[in-house]
Amino acid sequence: MRCRKCDERAVINMRHHKLSLCGDHYGEWFVAQIERAIEKYKMFTRDERILVAVSGGKDSLSLWDVLLRLGYQADGMYIGLGINTPIPYSDASLEMTRKFLARGGWRESGGDGDSVTSNVTPYTPFLHVVDVPEVYGKSIPEISRAKMRGQGRPCAACGLTKRYVMNRLAHERGYAVLATGHNLDDEVAVLFQNTLRWQTGYLARQAPTLPASHEGLVRKVKPLCRMYERETATYAVVRGIDYIYDECPHAAGNQMNFHKTLLNQLETESPGAKLSFYLEFLRARGEGAFDQFNETVELHACEICGQPTTAPGRCAFCRMWDVSAIVQ
Ligand code: AMP
Ligand code: FES
Ligand code: ZN
Ligand code: ZN
Repeated sequence: MRCRKCDERAVINMRHHKLSLCGDHYGEWFVAQIERAIEKYKMFTRDERILVAVSGGKDSLSLWDVLLRLGYQADGMYIGLGINTPIPYSDASLEMTRKFLARGGWRESGGDGDSVTSNVTPYTPFLHVVDVPEVYGKSIPEISRAKMRGQGRPCAACGLTKRYVMNRLAHERGYAVLATGHNLDDEVAVLFQNTLRWQTGYLARQAPTLPASHEGLVRKVKPLCRMYERETATYAVVRGIDYIYDECPHAAGNQMNFHKTLLNQLETESPGAKLSFYLEFLRARGEGAFDQFNETVELHACEICGQPTTAPGRCAFCRMWDVSAIVQ
């Protein structure tokens, strides 16, 4: 298969776009797609400081790379969860993230035919690392065992902790916006799950850009939401970004992965089905189909940490971690 633009050997064939591209042209196409999404969904501007949540995986590292190539003021944040058995998942993820930063590949601009970076003033990014066991005293599997008496997966404790740490750091360090690497496959699996259960409140809030609805919350954006997982993986490979291939050991066999498998079967039979499911949902949402389910919830400051919460007194994070004084 040949590149549509230059006749070189293609590295990817996107049946849903009827488009095959070589490595160089694919890299340019991918960056242009992200820039368009940032503008279309009014995610952020070049004057705003962006915090990218980086997990060491292909999506978040590719996202950080694209934002830096485009000249955005994008810093990174890695959350160490202390998940190191049966594989050293957290340690290896941090290593990949540090390696990405040390390599600095987004800086090569001009002269080498890179039309993306040639007009851009390079930004020197900073990586924040929050190590949960160090700051809060327990790893995610440990706090989960302590709170749930060994029942269930640690994913609920993990999700709550990540959301809290991300928002708090972004807000306290004065970032306008928090960007995550959720891709189309992630978004479609969540949409499918929410639709199966008709969770209308969740559907009303599922969007590429979630405005900061309350003092203490930051805007949340997902610039890769229209890119298939395969497309972000190809971008990482084309750019020579080393990333962690392993999934979190606790994710195996979860419902999200089961739904992803079903949706992949659908996509194989009907290329583009995932993309149109998602885009048509956004269109309906944009036309107000879910507006009636947008509840305005009363938020107030947690009595310990000051983060916005619906709970009276201590927020869910402070309760789970038994925080009784502010940890800086
Ligand atoms: P996941 O929930 O693992 O699919 O990850 C979704 C997104 O959350 C990733 O693309 C990252 O942007 C962010 N993320 C996940 N894990 C971490 C982590 N340990 N540290 C920072 N960001 C993370
Ligand atoms: Fe949090 Fe797997 S990444 S439990
Ligand atoms: Zn080409
Ligand atoms: Zn709190």
